[in-house]
Amino acid sequence: MHIKRTFLALLLAVSVIGIKAQTNAYEWRGCMLDVSRHFFSADFLKKQVDVLSAYGINRFHLHLVDAGGWRLEIKQYPRLTEVGAWRTKQGWEEWWEAGDRQYASASTAGAYGGFYTQAQMRELVAYAAERGVEIVPEIEMPGHSAEVMAAYPELACNGNYHGQSDLCVSNPATIEFLQNVLREVMDIFPSAYIHIGGDEADMVEWSKCSLCSAEKERLGLKNNKELQDHFIRRMMQYVVDQGRKPIGWDDALCDNLPKGSVIMLWRGADKAREIVEKGYDLILTPSNYCYLDYYQDCPPCEPYAFGTYLPIEQTYRLTEALIPSNHLLGVQGNLWTELIETPEHVEYMLYPRMLAIAEIGQKGIEAPAFNIFREQAVREANRLREAGVNAFNLGHEKGHRPESKINVQHRGIGAKVEYIKPMHPAYSAAGETSLVDGKRGDWNHNDHRWQGFSGDSCLDIIIDLQHKQRISSVKMDFMQSDVAWIYLPKHLTISFSKDGKKFTEVWNRTQEKIHHRQLWFENWGWDGRQRTRYIRIQGSATSPDDWLFLDEVVIN
Ligand code: ACM
Ligand code: ZN
Repeated sequence: MHIKRTFLALLLAVSVIGIKAQTNAYEWRGCMLDVSRHFFSADFLKKQVDVLSAYGINRFHLHLVDAGGWRLEIKQYPRLTEVGAWRTKQGWEEWWEAGDRQYASASTAGAYGGFYTQAQMRELVAYAAERGVEIVPEIEMPGHSAEVMAAYPELACNGNYHGQSDLCVSNPATIEFLQNVLREVMDIFPSAYIHIGGDEADMVEWSKCSLCSAEKERLGLKNNKELQDHFIRRMMQYVVDQGRKPIGWDDALCDNLPKGSVIMLWRGADKAREIVEKGYDLILTPSNYCYLDYYQDCPPCEPYAFGTYLPIEQTYRLTEALIPSNHLLGVQGNLWTELIETPEHVEYMLYPRMLAIAEIGQKGIEAPAFNIFREQAVREANRLREAGVNAFNLGHEKGHRPESKINVQHRGIGAKVEYIKPMHPAYSAAGETSLVDGKRGDWNHNDHRWQGFSGDSCLDIIIDLQHKQRISSVKMDFMQSDVAWIYLPKHLTISFSKDGKKFTEVWNRTQEKIHHRQLWFENWGWDGRQRTRYIRIQGSATSPDDWLFLDEVVIN
C-alpha cells in the first residue's frame, strides 16, 4: 500500500488538471463521500486524499452518520458503534427497501458495517492536512437518524423508536446528546466548518409527540417546518459558540440562522441568489451537476445506479450555476453510496468527474472549454488507472443515447398535434410540436425532448397529417425508469380516421407493470398498409401516480 501510494503521488505530481491553486480559485473545492450507506476503510480514505489533493481538491467532506450506519467512535455513547454501526444485510436495497432495516452487533453472524476509531480519524486529519486537504465531518440531524434511535430509543418522539427517521427535536435529552457528540467531533476534527446535515426530515412523528406539540405551542410555531427551523438555529448556534462555522443542506435554509452559517445547495441551483441575499455563505453542489452517484455513461450499459444520466460534460456545465458573490465559497461533488459497495466502484464513480469539479473549483468561469478539458481528463483517467485508481475509462465513453444524436425523418414531421388531454406542464418538452419534430430523447426524461403524461388515461393526442396518405407504420418509444415512477403504458391504442370524427381502432396493447432495475426502452406501435389523415393515440399509465414518457411518434 505504501509503495503504491508513493507511486501514485509521483505520477500525480505531473498531472495537468488543477494542482496549483489558482489565484481565482474558490476557497471550497470539495468532495463528499457517504461512508454510512457503505463503509470504506481509513486506508482507502487516505488514498482518496492523495488523488483529490493532486487535483486541487481541498475539502473532503465525510457523511459519517446516517441510517445505513454510524461510523465514528463516540466515547460518551458507545452504543452508537456497538449497535448503530452494524446492520443485518450488506446490500442497501436488500436491507432498506426490501428488508427488515434491523441493526445488529459486530458479533452477530452476517452483520455488515464498521466504524472509524477516533485515533484513525485523527491520523486521517493529519495526513490530509499535510496534503492541503481539510476533513469536514458531517453529523446528520434531525432526519436520517434511525441508527441513533436504534442505539438510544429514548431520543425518539414519545421514547418510541419504530423505524422512523427523525429524532425528537423537542426533548432536552436530544439536544444534550447532539451537543455532546458535536463536542467530541470538534475535538477530533479541527476543521473550520462542521456540517450538521438538516436534510429530508420527514417531520411525521413530531405531530404525534407530546414534547414536540408542547414545544410548538410554547414558542408559537405554526408547523413542523418551523419546529425544524428552530432546532437547526439552535444547533448551528451551538457550533458557532464553539468557534466553528456550521453547514447545513439547503433543507435547513430559513431566516435568522446565526452569522457565519453556510448552506450547501443540492436541490438544483435556483436558490443560490436567495441564499446569498440572506447573507449566508453558499457551497454549490446541485444534484443535476454534482451528484456523482448518477450514471456517467449509457445507463443500460453501466453498473446500476440511482438517478439520471450525468456525464462529465454535464458536471463541467456547473459553471452555469456560478454566481458572482463573495458569499459563494465554492463547489463540491457528492458521492452517495446506497448502491456502491466496493472501493473500486467508489473510484469508478468519482473519477474523472471529480476532476471537472476540481477544474471549476480552481478556475471558475475561466475554466477552459469542455473539449480542451475533456482531452486532459481522458489522459488523466488513463494515468489514474495505471496508478491503481479504478477511474472510468473516459476514452471509451459511449455518450448520449444514439437515437438522440440524429434527427429522424418521417411523414409526421411538422404535422399538427391536438392534445385532447394535456401533457404534464413540467415535462412539456418542445410543446405541441415535440412528438413530430424529428428529435428523439436522450437517456434523461427531463432532457426537454421526452414528453411526460400522468394520471389515469393520461395520453390522448390526435395527429393530423393534413391530407390523406398511405402509411405503413406508427411507432413510438416509451421510456421506463422505475426510480422516477416512469413505466411503459398499461394500455395503448392507435386509431385512424379520414375525417377527424369517426375513428377506427387499428392496434392496441395491454401490459401489466413489469419492474426493471435498469433504464428501459420499448418501441410500440402499428405496422400495416392503410390510408388515413388522422391518427389518434390513447394511453393509460400503470397507476394514477405513475408516468408515461414518449419522445417522438414516427410515422412512415
Ligand atoms: C441529500 O442529497 N439529501 C443532501
Ligand atoms: Zn418529539
